[in-house]
Amino acid sequence: MENIIEVKNLYKQFNLEAGFFAKNKQNVYAVNDLSFDVERGTTYGIVGESGCGKTTTAKMLIQLYRQTGGEIFYYPESGEKLSLAALNKKELSRYREEVKYIFQDPARSLNPRMSVFDVITAGLRYSSLWQGKKEALERAETIIKEVGLKGEDLFRRPAEFSGGQRQRISIARGLIMNPRLILCDEVVSALDVSIQGQIINLLSDLKAARNLTYVFITHDLKVACYFCDKIGVMYRGVLVEEAPAADLYKNAAHPYTKLLFNGAKGELSSSNKEVKTTLEKENCCPFAYRCPHASDRCSSELPQFRQLEEGHRVRCFLD
Ligand SMILES: Nc1ncnc2c1ncn2[C@@H]1O[C@H](COP(=O)(O)OP(=O)(O)O)[C@@H](O)[C@H]1O
Ligand code: SF4
Ligand SMILES: [Mg+2]
Repeated sequence: MENIIEVKNLYKQFNLEAGFFAKNKQNVYAVNDLSFDVERGTTYGIVGESGCGKTTTAKMLIQLYRQTGGEIFYYPESGEKLSLAALNKKELSRYREEVKYIFQDPARSLNPRMSVFDVITAGLRYSSLWQGKKEALERAETIIKEVGLKGEDLFRRPAEFSGGQRQRISIARGLIMNPRLILCDEVVSALDVSIQGQIINLLSDLKAARNLTYVFITHDLKVACYFCDKIGVMYRGVLVEEAPAADLYKNAAHPYTKLLFNGAKGELSSSNKEVKTTLEKENCCPFAYRCPHASDRCSSELPQFRQLEEGHRVRCFLD
């Protein structure tokens, strides 16, 4: 199968001023040597607890953030290979018509003063696809029904809808330009479990009907195993393990992935053990301070990937 996205050795550092008189800047290594490929027509899951760099990664994928290092390649259906950092303004807007980012928390991302119609067509209005209000209305009517709402809902306001319905509106907004790839950032996390299931079913149906590719970002490994084809597990900005969802579920190899599957995450946070979200230095295993198997090498060297089986790789010195 062919790739739609390739991420190569991506880095993102934020420089925090430690204070006005401070001499040293503090670096936050939010994303560290991140590489993965997304195959066209599949769902790639990025999983990890809050603060591990998932949203930063998504923002680099749509170039809201520029990377500190590394490259992102996009393959449009025309067969070209585009390096995102090299796109000019016009090419970038074209890219952003094909690749959409759906945010977490629809309550805050939908402007309460706008009608649903204005919310979902706002991006279209300033794009190369705008063909006037009449065509936009037809498009919006088709899409609002596709996400399970009614035509007349276009003239109501987002505040009149439930959380699950607002998430449907934000999906409709993401679909209006007929994108090829959608980055879903914690789109079900704020919802009740039964509503989560409905939204995931909707995303599955849309994927099949429109031949979409998803990057599905979540802190919930179980949801990811259910919905994704392949999963990358991140810890403190580092991809520590990657595998097809079924393999990861059966044969998790990284001590952190195992911990996530054992549900020990809750125990750790309730025992007041500090969960550090970013690295202080780049040259160590991100899990070293918490890993029961850590050796000296783990605190002075970032493990490179080891291949276990076809498509399954892990960053850990343990055999
Ligand atoms: N604009 C920013 N400035 C400084 N630090 C940031 C910024 N955005 C994110 N971070 C830091 O980068 C790390 C990763 O954040 P984020 O990508 O939002 O994680 P996640 O989405 O996995 O919860 C966090 O430590 C966060 O505080
Ligand atoms: S590299 Fe070392 S610290 Fe990191 S997970 Fe493996 S054993 Fe643990
Ligand atoms: Mg986030």
